[in-house]
Amino acid sequence: MFARKDIALAVSVLLVFQIQTCFSQINRASFPKGFVFGTASSAFQHEGAVKEDGRGPTVWDKFSHSFGKIMDFSNADVAVDQYHLYPEDIDRMKDMGMDAYRFSIAWSRIFPNGTGEINQAGVDHYNNLINALLAKGIEPYVTLYHWDLPQALEDKYKGWLDRQIIQDFATYAETCFQKFGDRVKHWITFNEPHTFSVQGYDVGLQAPGRCSILNGLLCRAGNSATEPYIVAHNVLLSHGTAADIYRKKYKPKQHGSVGISYDVIWFEPATNSTADIEAAQRAQEFQLGWFLDPVMFGDYPSSMRSRVGSRLPSFSKSEAALVKGSLDFVGINHYTTFFASNSNLVKALNDSISDSGALTVPFALGKPIPDRANSIWLYIVPHGMRSLMNYIKLKYGNPPVIITENGMDDPNNRLIPIKNALKDQKRIKYHNDYLTNLLSAIKEDGCNVKGYFVWSLLDNWEWAAGYTSRFGLYFVDYNDKLKRYPKDSVQWFKKFLASS
Ligand SMILES: *[C@@H]1O[C@H](CO)[C@@H](O)[C@H](O)[C@H]1NC(C)=O
Ligand SMILES: *[C@@H]1O[C@H](CO)[C@@H](O)[C@H](O)[C@H]1NC(C)=O
Ligand SMILES: *[C@@H]1O[C@H](CO)[C@@H](O)[C@H](O)[C@H]1NC(C)=O
Repeated sequence: MFARKDIALAVSVLLVFQIQTCFSQINRASFPKGFVFGTASSAFQHEGAVKEDGRGPTVWDKFSHSFGKIMDFSNADVAVDQYHLYPEDIDRMKDMGMDAYRFSIAWSRIFPNGTGEINQAGVDHYNNLINALLAKGIEPYVTLYHWDLPQALEDKYKGWLDRQIIQDFATYAETCFQKFGDRVKHWITFNEPHTFSVQGYDVGLQAPGRCSILNGLLCRAGNSATEPYIVAHNVLLSHGTAADIYRKKYKPKQHGSVGISYDVIWFEPATNSTADIEAAQRAQEFQLGWFLDPVMFGDYPSSMRSRVGSRLPSFSKSEAALVKGSLDFVGINHYTTFFASNSNLVKALNDSISDSGALTVPFALGKPIPDRANSIWLYIVPHGMRSLMNYIKLKYGNPPVIITENGMDDPNNRLIPIKNALKDQKRIKYHNDYLTNLLSAIKEDGCNVKGYFVWSLLDNWEWAAGYTSRFGLYFVDYNDKLKRYPKDSVQWFKKFLASS
């Protein structure tokens, strides 16, 4: 039997243990040596200056200026003006102790019409940005295509729907390797190809706004049953062609690496029924597998081939060989976890979602509803990070992975005083908990993860959500010259990164 003293001792031991777990912070030193921490951005969401220095218009300029497409009727003409303010933003990264910055090059600054003459002012801008980063010891990670297709190519041949895009993208990519590759060692050809194929050509909620679902109610033109697959196919061939050029002509001198950044929601089966377990697998195959299986295995997942049939383009032998093995690292943009169930409900859409036969939503009967960020799709499920890392390890043979985006947003509420908006405990907890799960995936499960990028350094223009969503570690005051203010999460990352 316990004496009272023993109980008291046990209780105090327990208390000490609890306090210790409460304060046992993970930090940079918990991660493997050389693990890279950075923040991420994209040209269209951050730069502004859309008419400066010869930049050509893009499909997102047109889409954002079309009535009713953007939640707050805003556009990104100014965005957060990083085109001009990058020197002070680089100081912010440096001050936090970040190792790297992921940004994208605007194709239409290099080639205003998508092809043709190089615009030297655009090249100069990115040279200045890259040099300013390196001068502060910040490693550039450069995305070539973050959704801002030159409008000229959309007008000329419907952009990603035409195979001519493969050659034009390759020329643009090679120009970037030539001009910047002496200093840029990490290239990401595409950001979230799944998102722009589906959002742009299946449900029509993003540029160029094509779809046929709901009897064409939402879009003026498009075919949701075929176009997302055609676009995806041309994107994969464009990636393969650019990666091949890099390997043959530039890598031997420049010694860099090439990846793609995939958007990946983790899917749990809604119940333990075989049908739902299979639906969760299919949902993942129609999301990550669609774009990663071809580069890992040389073909689309078999579930896609059998369900989509002749609407799914096929790879010729030489195309399969071009695409297969064309990645040096897998970029993962991960934010949230959904439940998948086998469903005929989605069949009526006659699109890629109906082809998957999986309904994916943030809730499931009998499961607790997770806490949510501002975005209606962003439910906070930290353990999804660990599950996803293990899925990639098992299915794809443990390739090098870089988390190229992870983060959460608060609403842009004008009624909240700035000093209160800076108190972002929820964001600190989000990053702490996702990083803790990432660390377990690395340390306990042996997942080969090399880096982690926060979306985003700054609040910015969040596509169809406009300025309603604040993802930044820094608050941007849209009413006062885009002044930046550090949120509490800046201090948290600074401390996290300083520890060794
Ligand atoms: C882009 O196309 C327009 C219209 O065809 C033409 O006037 C302009 O000179 C072109 N610009 C470049 C940089 O090629
Ligand atoms: C779905 O779309 C495809 C491609 O346009 C068309 O051939 C097919 O008839 C459609 N199916 C249904 C059920 O509407
Ligand atoms: C489903 O199976 C898992 C693992 O076998 C188990 O932990 C869980 O409780 C089951 N869930 C339901 C709803 O039966």
